[in-house]
Amino acid sequence: MNLLLIGSGGREHALAWKLSQSTQVERIFVAAGNGGTATTPKCENVAIGDGDLAGLLAFAQQQSIDLTVVGPEVPLVAGIVDLFQAAGLRIFGPVQAAAQLEGSKAFSKAFMQRHTIPTGWARVFSDFEEAADFAWGLDDLPVLKANGLAAGKGVVLPESRDEAVAVLRQMLVERSFGAASATVLVEERLRGAEVSVLAFSDGKNIAVMPPAQDHKRLLTGDRGPNTGGMGAFAPSPLATPNFLAEVERTVLRPAIDGMAAEGAPYVGVLYAGLMLTAKGLRVLEFNCRFGDPETQVVLPLLESDLVDLMLACIDGRLGETPPVWRKGVAATVVMASGGYPGHYAKGKEIHGIPGAEAAGCTVFHAGTALADGRLLTSGGRVLAVTGVGDSLLAAAERAYTGLADIHFDGAVWRTDIARPN
Ligand code: AMP
Ligand code: GLY
Repeated sequence: MNLLLIGSGGREHALAWKLSQSTQVERIFVAAGNGGTATTPKCENVAIGDGDLAGLLAFAQQQSIDLTVVGPEVPLVAGIVDLFQAAGLRIFGPVQAAAQLEGSKAFSKAFMQRHTIPTGWARVFSDFEEAADFAWGLDDLPVLKANGLAAGKGVVLPESRDEAVAVLRQMLVERSFGAASATVLVEERLRGAEVSVLAFSDGKNIAVMPPAQDHKRLLTGDRGPNTGGMGAFAPSPLATPNFLAEVERTVLRPAIDGMAAEGAPYVGVLYAGLMLTAKGLRVLEFNCRFGDPETQVVLPLLESDLVDLMLACIDGRLGETPPVWRKGVAATVVMASGGYPGHYAKGKEIHGIPGAEAAGCTVFHAGTALADGRLLTSGGRVLAVTGVGDSLLAAAERAYTGLADIHFDGAVWRTDIARPN
């Protein structure tokens, strides 16, 4: 089979790495890919952006692509699955109507309320004065969320009422996220530990993946600004069998059944971001795709052929082909460019990845590029160094042992991923 994989981050390198291990796969074209996918067996980068739906479709038709795999949310929310299906092509991911679970936080909140999925209360506003009055009158500080996609930056936890009003003004009046912040949610501020539960679905059946936790703050000890994620591990010790059964019963099952009942069966990966509050579990958000960096710890635990699994989802056969997971724990530590998530330099040469691999790690590239045979940094998050072991500590030790071999100017990472400080 020939595959087209869309995306260019660490998640996509992990997908390319796993898909390339399938004996059914001959070639994988990665649009646009990175320095890691450029050197993964069977893989070849092609310079088409993830927003160029027409270009991606034309490429898939020219190359007789047998299966397209979509990494990021942007093309899913833009309707790439509907477009490819209408052209008779096989593609893994939810249709546009189902991808609204991530594409519109107002839709997602109303959907959860319709299907009694546990989540915090929220009010939706498009008028600044009304939103500001409401937020000002609350006893507790709220969470403010841009309705549409905002590259992971659309959620703000203000620390004062003044800040809440200022953020509402930026979003609703100044349109800091463009059309994505023409509507905002003022949402109940929840407190508790967070865990991500991802599941495959064929529209009817569900197969849950090992639950993951990620570390969002830049600095060791959960300090500093929020980032796209500085590390992750799976399975999370918070996710006991009882907890997982509850998530399936109260969150995943009603979401999949609800989408089917509303005429848009959910096929693909459904990602539930959960918080364990004193009042019970609550959904913070749904995403319509694999997580980043969760994928870099979940896929190394998957024994099954990922192509088989994706085809089973597309064909409605997931019930007959449940995924097999290996025992053990995976941890990944992100190496970022100095200055991230603010301004950072690019083009720094990266050395030592073979040493980390010799230490038993898998090194996933996020922001790297190959230039004349040299591997250079090209983004904020540069690498995710994954280790697998019998325990959380063993997995973290392996990841950190490998990481010690890797060098580039200005590299920063947390020292407490999957381990106490
Ligand atoms: P999201 O983009 O919805 O995943 O939100 C990003 C992060 O914001 C989450 O991982 C949480 O840490 C935090 N967050 C989102 N919603 C809430 C909420 N209602 N209460 C407290 N924290 C939240
Ligand atoms: N790790 C968070 C996300 O992928 O949305």
